[in-house]
Amino acid sequence: MKRGILGTVGSPLVQVESPPGSVITAKIESKNPGGSAKDRPALAMVEAAEKEGELQPGDRIVEPTSGNTGIGLSMVAAAKGYDITVVMPASKSPERRAIMNAYGADLELVEGTISEAKDRADELEAEEGMVQVRQFENPANPEAHYRTTGAEIIEQVGDRTVDALVAGIGTGGTITGTGRRLKEAFPGMEVVGVEPAGNAVLTGGETGDDDFQGMGPGFVPPNLDEELLDDVEVVDLDSAEAECRRLAEEEGILVGQSSGGSLLAAKRVAERLAEERGIDPERCPGPDNDVGILNDEPADYDEIPEECPLVVTVFWDSGERYMSTGMFD
Ligand SMILES: Cc1ncc(COP(=O)(O)O)c(C=O)c1O
Repeated sequence: MKRGILGTVGSPLVQVESPPGSVITAKIESKNPGGSAKDRPALAMVEAAEKEGELQPGDRIVEPTSGNTGIGLSMVAAAKGYDITVVMPASKSPERRAIMNAYGADLELVEGTISEAKDRADELEAEEGMVQVRQFENPANPEAHYRTTGAEIIEQVGDRTVDALVAGIGTGGTITGTGRRLKEAFPGMEVVGVEPAGNAVLTGGETGDDDFQGMGPGFVPPNLDEELLDDVEVVDLDSAEAECRRLAEEEGILVGQSSGGSLLAAKRVAERLAEERGIDPERCPGPDNDVGILNDEPADYDEIPEECPLVVTVFWDSGERYMSTGMFD
């Protein structure tokens, strides 16, 4: 038994279909209590502010967010008894607004991108004395992923080496914290970032429309440790959404745009690593859903041989958060 909902932060690592001769697994972050990877930094940033004495009972939190951090913070604020105002670009999905509303948060919608939302949150902090946790700069954001996401993956892969982490970049917290932790354990591994084609600032592109929910803020986020990145892959929104439809229909995994995009990039990396190793594809087992829920003995799974490249990616949130976008129609 957990003594409170915030004790349930964490997620399973699940194998998905991958190019022949490779294995891809994904952290299913929708399993966190607020339904996304952002529950981890939300909790860590609030705890850090409490520790520093910046956040005290009766205070109101304010944060600019494209949605999931707002949901995570709204959940943490509700569980710990704080008030919260979330500032969000009006373009983000209505499901996100409804969920924050359900947690009792106040919402302020701004026209424009996350940059306009940041300006408005700064105003509210200065004028109304609200406490802003600043996910783009707060070191507790990557630290949360170092201590939880990264540590969980190391435990979940058991005796296996991780060969690559491939993950989208919003604030950079996930890839920085998780990448640091994994590289300590597996120094030879690659860390590969993913950014949207319409906002590919890390690969020399222009700032564009902020149409990828959660990924590609249009600037290089301070919380991103660029030194950690071995490479950056670029994905387009249409292909990412098509991959989400395929994942739902063919693998029974319902996720949002940035997860589809991260998986497309993970497949490119896995294919390259498989080619470099040139092993017999038959050696690398695919996903196994023969669970045997009614059997007394748990089902046996094949070990993943060390020679099969193992690529870890992140499925940030559930596709249920994107129904109104029409991407599953
Ligand atoms: C749906 C989604 N995908 C990806 C990300 C990127 O995560 P990070 O901010 O840790 O880089 C986020 C972050 O908000 C997100 O909400």
